[in-house]
Amino acid sequence: MTDSEYWARYYAVTGERPAWGTVRRAIELFAAEGPPRQLTAVDLGCGAGRDTQELLRAGWRVLAIDREEAAIAAVEIATEPHLRGALDVRVADLADFDVPQCDLVNASLSLPFLSPEPFWGTWRRILAALPVGGRFAAMLFGDHDGSAADLSMTCLPPVEIRARLGSFEIEHWVDSEEDTTTALGEPHHFHLVEFVARRTASA
Ligand SMILES: C[S@@+](CC[C@H](N)C(=O)[O-])C[C@H]1O[C@@H](n2cnc3c(N)ncnc32)[C@H](O)[C@@H]1O
Repeated sequence: MTDSEYWARYYAVTGERPAWGTVRRAIELFAAEGPPRQLTAVDLGCGAGRDTQELLRAGWRVLAIDREEAAIAAVEIATEPHLRGALDVRVADLADFDVPQCDLVNASLSLPFLSPEPFWGTWRRILAALPVGGRFAAMLFGDHDGSAADLSMTCLPPVEIRARLGSFEIEHWVDSEEDTTTALGEPHHFHLVEFVARRTASA
């Protein structure tokens, strides 16, 4: 099975699933800050768009990015007609995508698919795109994950993730491990590190 075939199956299974807790938490944290204003998010590795749809329904403008054309097609099809004006999409590789300035960068289970050098380059571009008050919501793989030995991926010790968020206040943090299955039913030891962090100082 090619990568594209794998991801097409993944989108068919996950397209209807609810948004992840990280993006829902980020939306709540912005909503608690005061009078509504137009907020913008970039969803990196959006897949079939479970998080993009949650943001659109909450009134955000969203730029959804994925390397797979099938992902972007799924996001466009799933978007209700009255929300399409708030959606922008791009087929692009996270390894060299120039992340635009925004209020929220969301990356659920996508950054670990970059090898370490592009991973850290993308990380720097994410942090640079966020102003003071902006947030970064992510789901990463920890170093005990079943994919940790795969050199084409990046699975990090939680302590390193925290250390790399120096100019951010961590508002939500969950570090969990579980023997379960992937969305496509393959057995896998998951070590997930999820967080929402708010920039408190300039880089
Ligand atoms: C596990 S899926 C997660 C999808 C979605 N964020 C979700 O939570 O349902 C990972 C996604 O990252 C995308 N992806 C992986 N590597 C990428 C890269 N280098 N550039 C852009 N997208 C990438 C894949 O195409 C896939 O859609």
